[in-house]
Amino acid sequence: MSASPLEIRALRPEDIPEVARQHFAAFGDPTRNGHSVATLGPTFLSDVFYRLNLDNPGFHCDVAWAGERIVAFTVFSTDKDNVFSHLIRKHPAGLVLSSLKQLLRRPSSLRAFLANAMYLRGERLAFLDGVPGWWVVCAILPDFRSASGEERVGRRIVVDFLDRMEELMTELACPAWYGVVDPSNTPINKVLQRRGAAEAGRARAQGLDMVYYVKRFDSGESR
Ligand SMILES: CC(C)(COP(=O)(O)OP(=O)(O)OC[C@H]1O[C@@H](n2cnc3c(N)ncnc32)[C@H](O)[C@@H]1OP(=O)(O)O)[C@@H](O)C(=O)NCCC(=O)NCCS
Repeated sequence: MSASPLEIRALRPEDIPEVARQHFAAFGDPTRNGHSVATLGPTFLSDVFYRLNLDNPGFHCDVAWAGERIVAFTVFSTDKDNVFSHLIRKHPAGLVLSSLKQLLRRPSSLRAFLANAMYLRGERLAFLDGVPGWWVVCAILPDFRSASGEERVGRRIVVDFLDRMEELMTELACPAWYGVVDPSNTPINKVLQRRGAAEAGRARAQGLDMVYYVKRFDSGESR
């Protein structure tokens, strides 16, 4: 099979509906994803999580295009405490309005709102001290993952995403990043370990038992 050209670039406003749709498709099921912000639905993701963070200098989203469609996205932050607090500081009216609309659409969303309110100032875990970077989320359409994805586009999209993320972190003097994942999600655990991130601890996050990985650039770990 001849490989389709792959283009990875920063999120543009016109990409938001499709990225929010894929984000919801991958993480919107509360039985598997607890109180993840994705469970609030694609409209909330689009109108709040992505659109209101467009002017957040610490919020970054890259999208991968192949064959004229988005096949993957990744979100990361170089200032983990600012992903949700930015919404309150800079866009309180938009946040409140979208939240009310969401609660009217689906009153059972209240639990997810309360759980996410705990993240407004970022996570307070001792093992995250001195770790400003956060790999928030990443999803690749099934046909574009692993070896089959490599056959289609000539490389592993997740590796390109991480290369870009770490390049920017280095440029911005961000010394370390972390990722929080379900221990039973083998692919993402493999990706993190292969990348040189080390298990830093375990904790409940959004109603689930999760494992935290940290990668520090100053420890001499390879990139
Ligand atoms: C997580 C994700 C981005 C990783 O991308 P990927 O292309 O699958 O990553 P890689 O192929 O480089 O690495 C995954 C590894 O897990 C392996 N793997 C995949 N499914 C597996 C399974 N069920 N059991 C064991 N290993 C598995 C892959 O074969 C690969 O290992 P290999 O290179 O030794 O063959 C992608 O799998 C994905 O989008 N998953 C759904 C969304 C998600 O869970 N995101 C993570 C939470 S934010």
